[in-house]
Amino acid sequence: MTRRIATFDEFRDAVSAYRLPRILIMALELDLFTKIGVRRWTIPQLAKSLSVSERGLSILCRNLAMAGLLTKTGESYRNSRLAATALNARHAAYRKNYLDLMMNHEKDWGRLGESVRTGRQLDEDVPEEPGYRQRFTWAMHYRTVETAPKIAAQVDVHGAAMLLDLGGGPGTYAMAFLSKHPRLRATVGDRPAALEVAREIAATHKAGSRLSYVPIDFTQEAIPGTYDVIWYSNVLHIYSPETNRAIFRRALAALNPGGRLLIQDAFLHDREGLRPAEANLFAVSMLLFTEEGNTYTAAATRGWLKEAGFSRTKVLRMKPGTEDWEDGILEAVAPGGLSSKRLKNPVQQGRSK
Ligand SMILES: C[S@@+](CC[C@H](N)C(=O)[O-])C[C@H]1O[C@@H](n2cnc3c(N)ncnc32)[C@H](O)[C@@H]1O
Repeated sequence: MTRRIATFDEFRDAVSAYRLPRILIMALELDLFTKIGVRRWTIPQLAKSLSVSERGLSILCRNLAMAGLLTKTGESYRNSRLAATALNARHAAYRKNYLDLMMNHEKDWGRLGESVRTGRQLDEDVPEEPGYRQRFTWAMHYRTVETAPKIAAQVDVHGAAMLLDLGGGPGTYAMAFLSKHPRLRATVGDRPAALEVAREIAATHKAGSRLSYVPIDFTQEAIPGTYDVIWYSNVLHIYSPETNRAIFRRALAALNPGGRLLIQDAFLHDREGLRPAEANLFAVSMLLFTEEGNTYTAAATRGWLKEAGFSRTKVLRMKPGTEDWEDGILEAVAPGGLSSKRLKNPVQQGRSK
């Protein structure tokens, strides 16, 4: 949603936007795309196989065809290319854990009232367990597996020997940087359960032999080692400004002089912190699922970086359509050493401050 709501019709349309997501989630709950697989089905056949009503299924499938996930010919249906691959449990490209995460989030958003009233995350008493962390880490891999190589192709780390993927989870970004730069070495710093997933993924890549692993809680501990680049992607929003400032100080202590901290996150870019809409909506997820998280303006984050001791900050622009979030990645340079002016990539015509 990017348009402002000014009329009642626009308000009604915005509220009614729950309909298509509900249809899509219902199809996932039935595991309908897996059942359809590579066959063509009539509604009576499919309804029998899924143990649902023909009436309900015919209306559901007609809407899935309208949305482009099924193709309808007369009274029969097949999967679209996307449905037959990423949404089909029998296909190698199936994005299982990410789909599960989407389904869980959709349910949890129905409990928004609880968090708005209390100001606290849902299920705050449920302790973190390794199985959950691993499923979440796989979900993060499926989320970024296509984006990471596009970002690594644009973010210039030439001249860096050691990169730390801090809060790197599956290490999908670290792997993308390693694949692009044959002499680079990288480390993923994360919780032990996440690192197990990173190891499993790295074992399937040739460049994975240049990846190492640091189990860490970086809100509590100093970051071991020294690095030329620290890649900090999708972690900022989990924490409060105070916690982020402390993490920035730890990151600075782990950087070589002139080293760079690169922050990819759901930054808000306008003066009032309202847009992009995706970044603002994402703050609601942080309310539901984190103790202290939020989304922040790029301007505020640059201020915290300066307070932490970084000498310069700038927004690196990515090619539109290739980004994880809109409007760029923040670069903060540690004092001393060579300046980042030697970066040659023409895409990175950022605004310096
Ligand atoms: C949303 S995921 C992002 C993963 C990856 N960087 C990406 O962009 O796809 C956040 C990651 O940060 C890790 N993380 C968060 N807080 C952490 C902490 N205090 N210590 C270690 N890892 C942490 C989580 O375990 C998780 O893997």
